[in-house]
This record gives sequence, C-alpha cells and structure tokens, in this order.
Amino acid sequence: MSKEIAEQPGVLSDAIRHYLPDGKTDIVLPGAEMAFNMVNRVIMVACGTAFFACLTAKYWFEQIAGLPVEVDVASEFRYRQPPIPPGNVALFVSQSGETADTLAALRYCAGKADRIVSVVNVAESSIARESDLVLPIHAGIEIGVASTKAFTCQLSILLMLALKAARDRGRMPDADMAEHIQALRALPSTINTALAQGDTIRKAAQRLSQARDVLFLGRGRIYPLAHEGALKLKETSYIHAEAYASGELKHGPIALVDKHMPVVVMAPRDELFGKIVSNMQEVMARKGKVILISDEAGIKAAPDGVWSTIRMPTIYPNLAPILYAIPVQLLAYHTAVARGTDVDQPRNLAKSVTVE
Ligand code: M6R
Repeated sequence: MSKEIAEQPGVLSDAIRHYLPDGKTDIVLPGAEMAFNMVNRVIMVACGTAFFACLTAKYWFEQIAGLPVEVDVASEFRYRQPPIPPGNVALFVSQSGETADTLAALRYCAGKADRIVSVVNVAESSIARESDLVLPIHAGIEIGVASTKAFTCQLSILLMLALKAARDRGRMPDADMAEHIQALRALPSTINTALAQGDTIRKAAQRLSQARDVLFLGRGRIYPLAHEGALKLKETSYIHAEAYASGELKHGPIALVDKHMPVVVMAPRDELFGKIVSNMQEVMARKGKVILISDEAGIKAAPDGVWSTIRMPTIYPNLAPILYAIPVQLLAYHTAVARGTDVDQPRNLAKSVTVE
C-alpha cells in the first residue's frame, strides 16, 4: 500500500499524458470518437472506492459541463431496473474490470444506453471487452487490497472526461480550459509536495489509532472523499468510521461527538470554507477532536483549538479531490501500521469481488 501511494506522481503523470498529450490544448480520448453535445444524462455505476470516484465526478460533470449525472452502486442499480431513455450514456468504473455487480449492471445497460463507456485499469478485463469505449486509467498493476493509485487515476480520467464534455457542450471558454490544463500538468509535482507531509500525517495517525470511532466530513466536491477516507480507514485499521456531508452534522451525527471522537475535516479554502468553519466550531464546542486537512489559507482561517492540522499545497479548486486523496490514504495507512494490522491483505477482503 505504501509503495502504491508513493507511486502516484509517476502514474498520474502517465495517465494525464495519455489524454492530454504534450503541446495539446484539448482532451484527446483513445479509440472511438465520443461527443457529449447530444447527451442528456450520464449514468455512472461502480462499487467501493470506484463508486466514490463516480460521486466526485458527478460534481465535475454537473458543475463544469452542465450535464446531469446519476450515480449508483452496482449492487442496487442492477436489481432496480431503472429506465434508460434515449440520450443516456452509461459509464462503469472498475479497477479490476471484473467486479460481478458492475459487470451485471453493464449488461443491463447494453442495448438500452446510447453508449457503454468504461474506466478501467485492466484493459483486457470483461468490463473493458463489453464496452463501446474503454478509457484506461494507466495506474499499473495494483496489488494492495485497499485501492489507492487506481482511485486518483480514476479521478483524473473522470475530470478530463468532464472537461471534454464541457468543451463539446460549449461550456468552457479557452481561458478556463487553459487553467485546468495547467493545473492538471502540475498535479504530479503538487502530489509530491503532499506526500512530503508523511511525517505530520503519521503523527496524526498515531492519535487516531487510539479511537474507536472516527467521523469524516467534507463539503461540495470534497464530500465524496469523506466516504473514501472512512472506507480506507475501516478496511485497513478496522476502526469504525463514518462519512457525512458536513451540512448534515446537525441532522444527527453531532449526537455522537464527544471528547473521544476524532473528526477528520477536509476543507481547502474554497467558496464553501466559511460553512465548514462553523461545522468545526460545533464539533469543538462538544469537545470533539478536529483533524483539519487544508491549505495554508484554510489553516490560518481555522478556529482555535484544532487537534491536528495537515497542510496541503494550494491547488486549483476542481483538482482538490485528487490532491486531498493523498492525506486520506496516508492517514489510513499509518493508522493501520500503528495498530499492527495487515494493510496489504486486510481480513475478510479480496482484491477483486467476482462473485455476488
Ligand atoms: O475492481 P473494482 O474497482 O471494481 O473494485 C471495486 C471495489 O471492490 C474496491 O474499490 C474496494 O472497495 C476496495 N477494497 C477499496 O479500497
């Protein structure tokens, strides 16, 4: 897991270059031509970590491309038999390309959706073979049961696809596109800077390793990452963790908060930062212990009394979910190491879930 976390600057650079070749100012998809101007809706289906990549992509497709997105876990989608009217593209995300529920959901959509698109790591997989358009993530072989580098590569490909959709739909002027491209090309080195925070994260993880329950909070495009953080912590350290959109705090989870409850808050200083400050105040007023992951401006603006801070480099807002995945992965990894669990082969889990 540690090796695969550390590999991310290299694999991301590779993945980005495949869709954004040097010198190009637009996204280039491999294989069959695909344009989003006639698409009415994208249905995204996946399991586990890949599902959280889809949840993040919903923010990008809706906000950047103005394209409605429905996201579902494959095990629900396949039995719900949702109607798929013309104009819908079905998109499946899977590291292995062999997840039974995701493959069954794809087969349900075949012949109904205008196009079957898959975002996979294993290009020879069943999901890839049964798709009209395959978008490889170029993460290299992922061995760790806890998906890490595949997640950030999935996110990068989905962001680039959302950018292409925005361009096809006339929603992204050249200047905005140029800013996104510049940020994408700089992403591997920004991730290197985040990886250099390993020691600070290890110290925060030592404190976290004493907890019985942990809450992860985020807002907006960072919110799905709260789920990924909770999943990563659960599967590697066996600590109970839950994720909430921080605006939901008052609707129930705040009842859990006391001096024993660490609350991991992921909050770059973006347009929603002010709201998350009040959420942190609410947690700390109940003696909850806030671990804040933010950038320099966010850490400066945070209320007094934060338990631990993890500083991320400042990043172009749409790329924050990719960057903030790094501390989330390192937090889970170091917590698991501190508790002495087997991070690479957690109990009861398989790398690829090929049966229901
Ligand atoms: O191979 P897939 O991406 O289809 O796998 C989906 C999930 O089984 C997988 O992401 C799982 O949740 C991981 N253990 C997460 O770390």
